[in-house]
Amino acid sequence: MTMANARILVVYYSRTGATRKVAQSLSDALSCDSEEITEAGSRNGIFGYLRSVMEARRQIPSCIAATVRDPSLYDVVVIGTPVWAWSLSSPVRAYLLANRSSLPAVAFFCTLGGAGSDQVFGQMRELVGKRPLDCLFVAARDVASANYGPRLATFVEAIQREIENGRSRAATSAA
Ligand SMILES: Cc1cc2nc3c(=O)[nH]c(=O)nc-3n(C[C@H](O)[C@H](O)[C@H](O)COP(=O)(O)O)c2cc1C
Repeated sequence: MTMANARILVVYYSRTGATRKVAQSLSDALSCDSEEITEAGSRNGIFGYLRSVMEARRQIPSCIAATVRDPSLYDVVVIGTPVWAWSLSSPVRAYLLANRSSLPAVAFFCTLGGAGSDQVFGQMRELVGKRPLDCLFVAARDVASANYGPRLATFVEAIQREIENGRSRAATSAA
């Protein structure tokens, strides 16, 4: 597999737009498909905030809408979430629980106020049951000021390198 023919999907949830912005930058940089995880209800206001904290802390998956793209048709799925209460957001938890058996190689990214990315990546890795190709966290203030280009480029390069390495391994084992 080469970058030229690799099929990559970016899947993400975003409550207030920061994770969406990073996801769009990623799908542009990787020239790949993307899909936003959505829900029927609203998380606006203080009650939406508190419900989000409670679900994240108790590790409760939320009720998400059916997704359109089948992750098993891709070579790499890049999954993005906001950090909620030092935990994975409940919509992305629901997505991973629903799709973990059909996920190919994965990479993770998150946006956050300041702390909790290690815990979130640990939870994602545990749910998926495999080591990510790479992980990226971006502070919300850096998203707002569009100050994440170099770190995003490093993440993209790491994914591209893993894809190429996978090709090398396949070529070696076939030889
Ligand atoms: C319910 C809730 C809990 C949050 N908990 C944390 C946290 O534990 N650590 C942190 O650094 N940021 C926390 N944040 C901030 C978000 O992770 C951050 O603003 C993120 O970029 C929002 O992404 P979004 O705009 O895609 O929804 C929290 C935000 C919300 C709404």
